[in-house]
Amino acid sequence: MSVQIPAGLTDLLQGFTVEVLRQQPEDLVGFAVRYFSKLQATAGSGAVRAPKAVNFADEPMQTDSEDGDEEEDDEEELEAPVKNRLTRRPSVCAEPFNPDEEEEDAELRVIHPKTDEQRRRLQDACKDILLFKNLDQEQMFQLLDAMFERFVEMDEHVIDQGDDGDNFYVIERGKYDIFVTVDGVQKCVGTYDNHGSFGELALMYNTPRAATIIATSSGALWGLDRTTFRRIIVKNNAKKRRLYEEFVKSLPLLKSLELGERMKVVDVFGTKTYNNGERIIAQGDKADSFYIVESGEVRITMKHKAKPDADGVEIARCSRGQYFGELALVANQPRAASAFAAGAVKCLVMDIQAFERLLGPCMDIMKRNIANYEEQLVDLFGTNMDLAGRSV
Ligand code: CMP
Ligand code: CMP
Repeated sequence: MSVQIPAGLTDLLQGFTVEVLRQQPEDLVGFAVRYFSKLQATAGSGAVRAPKAVNFADEPMQTDSEDGDEEEDDEEELEAPVKNRLTRRPSVCAEPFNPDEEEEDAELRVIHPKTDEQRRRLQDACKDILLFKNLDQEQMFQLLDAMFERFVEMDEHVIDQGDDGDNFYVIERGKYDIFVTVDGVQKCVGTYDNHGSFGELALMYNTPRAATIIATSSGALWGLDRTTFRRIIVKNNAKKRRLYEEFVKSLPLLKSLELGERMKVVDVFGTKTYNNGERIIAQGDKADSFYIVESGEVRITMKHKAKPDADGVEIARCSRGQYFGELALVANQPRAASAFAAGAVKCLVMDIQAFERLLGPCMDIMKRNIANYEEQLVDLFGTNMDLAGRSV
């Protein structure tokens, strides 16, 4: 007896299986009931197409759908695989910025299948990305699913200033120069050296690309499409703004920034937590981040030149609202001191590119404080101090 496999059965079951593997529901039967009911409802309304098979071998990418009205943190959010899509959008610069608003195509979820080895490399490249720090597990999972690998050659323009924003990029390896053209004059304003990320601004604010990024070596990047970036990161930023608005308004360091500029600071920082005694900054290290204490206390210590291996001497403490780690960025030198968590600590962390781009107006306050460091050290150690790394 020959058995006919009904058209669509394989796709249907594959779609369901992918969702089960992604969501790992405890109640498999309940999950199945909800999955297929939802599928029937959406198919009935004509809102979604018939499910499409997830075929890792010959599909460059799959998307599946989600119900945009569901709670973001609903662990068992149901998605039915729908269709392939990877389109560069037409001009986006005129779109208004409203992070709370669902994007018109927000229901489409992008999945780029990856091998275990690719996923491991991707996770490694993303582990220190500040924009990803405040995301929950499910959001992170969706981001990683949507990211795709892009290899670049030396001298390749990854981004050109003035273009529309299509993707956000996380660096796996390679060096990249950042050029900004102002009044027709192009200037190199910085470099990414084998880590970091770029391309978030055009996607966050619907503006043209603000800089040109050129590879100065061959390299590898992980791209994230604009729609997924906006659906997850921009939405999360709206939440972050609500959470941190009062705190950033209260920071004396940021008082020369307009409210809108302070909110941009909120958009780009990531939060990091540290346990008692954990080192946050190591004296002598190359610097790439700036810190504001959100809670807890941070000890700043300096080592003696004669005893570089001994514990440093405590020279300052920073508590809620205070900042540290600016000196190396401002003076373009290694860390002058170490920073340790004294108890549990939570910091807002900003990368050097955002620091330079956003905190220019706060430089006077920082420089005034830097000038006090010398005095502070003389008070502590007298004029004959001989401290390693001191360069104020
Ligand atoms: P975006 O404007 O989307 O594309 C260019 C990217 O360069 C930008 O996002 C930032 O991620 C990055 N960048 C780094 N430094 C600067 C800078 N000083 N000004 C503007 N963009 C910068
Ligand atoms: P940075 O050198 O980047 O990293 C160590 C940080 O310790 C430094 O920036 C300052 O923010 C902070 N610090 C506090 N007091 C001092 C001091 N007296 N000298 C140098 N750094 C200090």
